[in-house]
Amino acid sequence: MNNLSKIAVGLDTRSYEILVQNGILNNVWEFISPFLKNGKLHIISDTNAFKLHGEKLLSSIKSNNVKYNIIEIESGEKSKSFASFENVIESLLSTGAERGDLIIAFGGGVTGDLSGFVAGVVNRGIDFIQIPTTLLSQVDSSVGGKTAINAKAGKNLVGLFWQPRAVLIDPLVLETLPKRDLMAGFAEIFKIGLINDAQFFDYCDKNYAKILGENSTSRRFAIETAIKAKANIVAQDEREGGIRALLNLGHTFAHAIEAGVNYNEQIWRHGEAVSCGIVMAANFSHQLGLLDEKSAKRIENFIQNCGYRTKLDDNGFNANDMLETMRHDKKNSGGQINLILLKNIGQAFIYKNAPIDKLKIFLESECAKAA
Ligand SMILES: NC(=O)c1ccc[n+]([C@@H]2O[C@H](COP(=O)([O-])OP(=O)(O)OC[C@H]3O[C@@H](n4cnc5c(N)ncnc54)[C@H](O)[C@@H]3O)[C@@H](O)[C@H]2O)c1
Ligand SMILES: [Zn+2]
Repeated sequence: MNNLSKIAVGLDTRSYEILVQNGILNNVWEFISPFLKNGKLHIISDTNAFKLHGEKLLSSIKSNNVKYNIIEIESGEKSKSFASFENVIESLLSTGAERGDLIIAFGGGVTGDLSGFVAGVVNRGIDFIQIPTTLLSQVDSSVGGKTAINAKAGKNLVGLFWQPRAVLIDPLVLETLPKRDLMAGFAEIFKIGLINDAQFFDYCDKNYAKILGENSTSRRFAIETAIKAKANIVAQDEREGGIRALLNLGHTFAHAIEAGVNYNEQIWRHGEAVSCGIVMAANFSHQLGLLDEKSAKRIENFIQNCGYRTKLDDNGFNANDMLETMRHDKKNSGGQINLILLKNIGQAFIYKNAPIDKLKIFLESECAKAA
């Protein structure tokens, strides 16, 4: 289980490898040094991740006499703001950052998204490496090169595609991650099985307790399978002109849930909203006669057994607001709603221009069921 896995993301001149190994953090120098030309290393990290695992990262770097500096950002979504973007850029430039330098993003998805955006624009683009430390960032946000900060009008509206030069994943860092964050990350893992890999969904169904329970062969297999699947999709459709949209399974419903609580992550973590959103997508697929009842029930039972909410809660959700959010989802245009729905377990597809009247009735009944 301690072998090194290499997963390739094939994007022509921007191709890179995602390396997975227990304890890779103690040995990062070997993997980052080939990308460090003559420059300095800039480590951007959130305070939590750095406090917990920074020493391990530094021990490998320090023994190699390289110039480095550390820029800490506050943990949490608030760091994906124009203010912290500016702070990080100014800190970097004050150390004399140059084109040949290398940025390391060390933390969860917030750190990766902000650092990637910074790397993409400072000096018109500096190389960067992702060392993701949450389950969500290991299987999702560090793969595929999307970077962003948030604007008043919505999340992730300001950013660019900026691929890392490499991604280093140490499953051992997840030992300090709270269960709730593990669960949030797992939603983006089993989602893959539902999209295009029924066998992997079976695996998640049988092994979710092990995957969520502790560092194990099952967890590592799940992480690697999800990364491979995403890498494969990204290689076919880097800029989300088509097939990459399938990764949004459950997400349009999830955004309506998240918006309903003003993106308060104490109430609904993104991954929790995605899980509930997938239940909704499955049930709506069944209502439209696209997915059989047995499969829809199986998905709902699985998500419930894992311990997620499968229904809206009593936070005052209403169908009209949810529909409005769905219409304005940045993936939709002209008032139409495109949804990722299911024909089967392992067979998601893009359903263009969903029938608004039926969707409204569906959402009304979901809101009425809210507990
Ligand atoms: N770029 C993409 O393709 C993409 C995809 C999905 C999500 N995202 C973005 O990712 C972000 C969410 O990422 P996230 O869930 O990793 O959130 P996060 O970065 O806020 O991390 C969650 C919490 O875990 C802490 N943490 C990090 N590593 C830890 C560790 N090893 N042990 C204990 N605590 C640790 C963090 O300090 C934070 O408090 C969102 O901003 C979302 O928009 C981006
Ligand atoms: Zn997501």
